[in-house]
Amino acid sequence: MTSTADDVSTLNFADLAFARHSVRAFLPDPVPADRLERVFVVAQQTASWCNAQSWRVDLTGPLTTRRLADALLEDVRSNPAGGSDIPPPASYENEYADRRRGSGYALYNALGIERGDRPGRTRQMLRNYEFFGAPHVAIVSSPAALGPYGYVDCGGFVANVLNAAQSLSIGAIAQAAVVLRPRAVRSVLAIPEDRHLVCGIALGFEDLAHPANAFRTERATIEETVRIHP
Ligand SMILES: Cc1cc2nc3c(=O)[nH]c(=O)nc-3n(C[C@H](O)[C@H](O)[C@H](O)COP(=O)(O)O)c2cc1C
Repeated sequence: MTSTADDVSTLNFADLAFARHSVRAFLPDPVPADRLERVFVVAQQTASWCNAQSWRVDLTGPLTTRRLADALLEDVRSNPAGGSDIPPPASYENEYADRRRGSGYALYNALGIERGDRPGRTRQMLRNYEFFGAPHVAIVSSPAALGPYGYVDCGGFVANVLNAAQSLSIGAIAQAAVVLRPRAVRSVLAIPEDRHLVCGIALGFEDLAHPANAFRTERATIEETVRIHP
């Protein structure tokens, strides 16, 4: 694979950014290998701290995706608390809590899951461990020794994978849920302990008819997020 911009779709970036959304229902068809590789060739251009390129990717095809899903679902049963290489926030407060709740309700509304329907919400949460039916998943890891600097690089890389996938008409969703079960992930993919699991990304073709894909999340205005210092 070359690492030039040749044959990459040249959609205007703003159009691409506004069209991208998380896909939570996929068709089972695998993505042709050259098209999938292209996503990673493009994302490999991500800027990183002193060009360290901290990310590594374990990318699965349908057979391994199934084995990984089985291991994750078994881990949910045998190890309910899970774990993680990177400690999650203790809580989300204020606007962060509001936005988190808002995106959850948007999903449940789209799926007709009532707010008080805990079993329904749990069933939907567990779909994370089947990658929402996606045939591929990318597990992004970073050297433990690089700490937050490596995680920042990986964040940029994940964003570029999502946008590159969108540019090639491949659906995608970042999944923290997957790396909250590192034991299961390592049992299938043998990722060493000296690399921290940062994020999963499910990839495949979007099921356009599925209601889980029918809603869009909101964004704060830039007045809320950008302080301009003239
Ligand atoms: C690092 C990261 C981890 C995420 N983890 C999950 C996840 O585990 N499960 C899930 O359903 N969505 C997950 N998401 C998707 C977010 O909920 C989604 O990006 C957000 O609500 C904005 O919606 P949009 O992607 O459709 O614009 C994650 C997104 C990011 C960037």
